[in-house]
Amino acid sequence: MSLKTSIDLKKLPRHIAIIMDGNGRWAKEKGLIRALGHESGTTSVRTTVEACVELGVGNLTLFAFSTENWNRPKLEVKTLMQLLITSLRKEMNTMQKNSVQLKAIGNINHLPEKVQKELLHVIEATKENTKMILTLALSYGSRDEIVNATRQICDKVKNNIISIEKIDDELINQHLYTRNLPDVDLLIRTSGEKRISNFMLWQIAYAELYFTEVFWPDFKNENLYEAIINYQKRERRFGKTTDQLK
Ligand code: FPP
Repeated sequence: MSLKTSIDLKKLPRHIAIIMDGNGRWAKEKGLIRALGHESGTTSVRTTVEACVELGVGNLTLFAFSTENWNRPKLEVKTLMQLLITSLRKEMNTMQKNSVQLKAIGNINHLPEKVQKELLHVIEATKENTKMILTLALSYGSRDEIVNATRQICDKVKNNIISIEKIDDELINQHLYTRNLPDVDLLIRTSGEKRISNFMLWQIAYAELYFTEVFWPDFKNENLYEAIINYQKRERRFGKTTDQLK
């Protein structure tokens, strides 16, 4: 029987974020080139998006390309960019059918023009969709995001648009790439690595962390269900005591 039936649909995480790791090692284990690992990873992207929509998860954010990933061999970067273009083209109809709204966070201007064009096209075409927000983190780094937000806020203070006293959690939130998205409830990282790797440092302040040994291309719906069930068993105290939660 599928683990899906054990999920409490009333206690779903509002926002799931995933560090999709292990494409390269998956390929290596099979004697394949890394590019095939990434290609196979796109299948896991599709099945995971569809599973989240079906369950009713409102927000899914995927770490697809970090600011640091630009330092990978040129050919690998090119492959990843090409895969993005093909996936966006291929998946646009399914996103419409499932009422998925696409967003992107990160330094989007750094992406090749062709990727930007495809991305903006799908973002525009899906902007009225309401079932789930799918956010792709592309050329994304959390420190870079925080530096950007700080610059914008300082600029507003300098120009007397806001006063220093007005700086609070919410104001900082509104200057991050993720403005308007809820905080992350569940962060999943595949491939056995137990690191955050500069991903949504601000937004995961109270997230439950879930690490699995499974490489991203092997990540199936059952693995997602397992992560959600594990999340639902945890007591989220947000700094309070167990008794206070009762
Ligand atoms: C990490 O594996 C994965 C990436 C850097 C890229 C993730 C990209 C995809 C899954 C495909 C395209 C994405 C979308 C949204 C269509 P790794 O290469 O670091 O693996 P390794 O640690 O085993 O080398």
